[in-house]
Amino acid sequence: MKVLGIETSCDETAVAVYDGDRGLLAHEVFSQFDLHRAWGGVVPELAARDHIQRLLPMIRATLAAAGTALEDLDGVAYTAGPGLIGALMVGGAVAESLAYALGLPVIGVHHLEGHLLAPMLEPDPPPFPFVALLVSGGHTLLVEVAGIGRYRILGESLDDAAGEAFDKTAKLLGLGYPGGAALAALAEKGRHGVFEFPRPMMDRPGLDFSFSGLKTAAVVVVRDRPLDEQGRADLAHAFEEAIVATLVGKALRALDATGHTALVVAGGVGANRRLRHDLADAAARRGARVYYPRPGFCTDNAAMIAYAGYRRLAAGEHAGQAIRARPRWPLDELTPITN
Ligand code: KG4
Ligand code: ZN
Repeated sequence: MKVLGIETSCDETAVAVYDGDRGLLAHEVFSQFDLHRAWGGVVPELAARDHIQRLLPMIRATLAAAGTALEDLDGVAYTAGPGLIGALMVGGAVAESLAYALGLPVIGVHHLEGHLLAPMLEPDPPPFPFVALLVSGGHTLLVEVAGIGRYRILGESLDDAAGEAFDKTAKLLGLGYPGGAALAALAEKGRHGVFEFPRPMMDRPGLDFSFSGLKTAAVVVVRDRPLDEQGRADLAHAFEEAIVATLVGKALRALDATGHTALVVAGGVGANRRLRHDLADAAARRGARVYYPRPGFCTDNAAMIAYAGYRRLAAGEHAGQAIRARPRWPLDELTPITN
């Protein structure tokens, strides 16, 4: 079974072809960073218009790279939510029209299910059950994954997502947008212990996160004194340290609470070197293992959507002929599949 996957939920246009026997045949991603940079964040209407321009040529190119003709496809999968409504509509309209014209089954995939299953595309996939830490610009979640569609949210951010907190503080330091990676690079030049930031919610039981206070703490530092280059690096260092300590602390708590020994980390913040280093240390100490999708599959991509769609279509699930676009879509509303 060959499935075409389409992702347009935010600011990446992405297309992939997944084959049930041969695995991933091809995938392409175009990131709209340059389009939104001047605005300091994603502009929904610009995102949707750019998806319209890119999607069809990208589908042609990805099919060619996969050596697959439209007629060879057995199904179509697209991200139906959560995400920006206009952006979701573009992928949904193209996917539903293609499926209708070709007489193929089609399915709307939950974007976060895509992220949770992305490590399954790697040669050494994690075994079920596992705990997943999903840390991106839009989400910060700890999820127990017992199987496909069997998700229990253990904790989530009550305010900013981890990536959003990185981005806001990066902006404060004049590092541009999205500034998470630049802030992490600056943090490496920072000295330990110059600034001390709180570890939000670590003193309370439970697995929820809160990052908006950290951002405020950074604002207060910058407001109170002019920082030279070393000072900015010291601040970045302390900020990263506080976020990473919180993510690691809660992830370990989630492993303890569930008794699972596999931890999957996904989302753009999963690229953070300090997070990777500290998680590896902490997991090794308690006999647990950390799994990452390859960097290109940590961030938004269509390979994960094609894969999740393949698993659901192969289980006989498919949608009717209506474009599905759900800006909000609780993860625990998904149906479990058994095969
Ligand atoms: O999953 P992702 O690509 O997409 C969306 O959320 O749409 O995540 C992007 C987020 C941004 O907030 C970015 O600043 C952050 O991941 N990020 C990082 C690093 N690389 C990317 N944050 C911290 N350290 C990094 N090295
Ligand atoms: Zn995402």
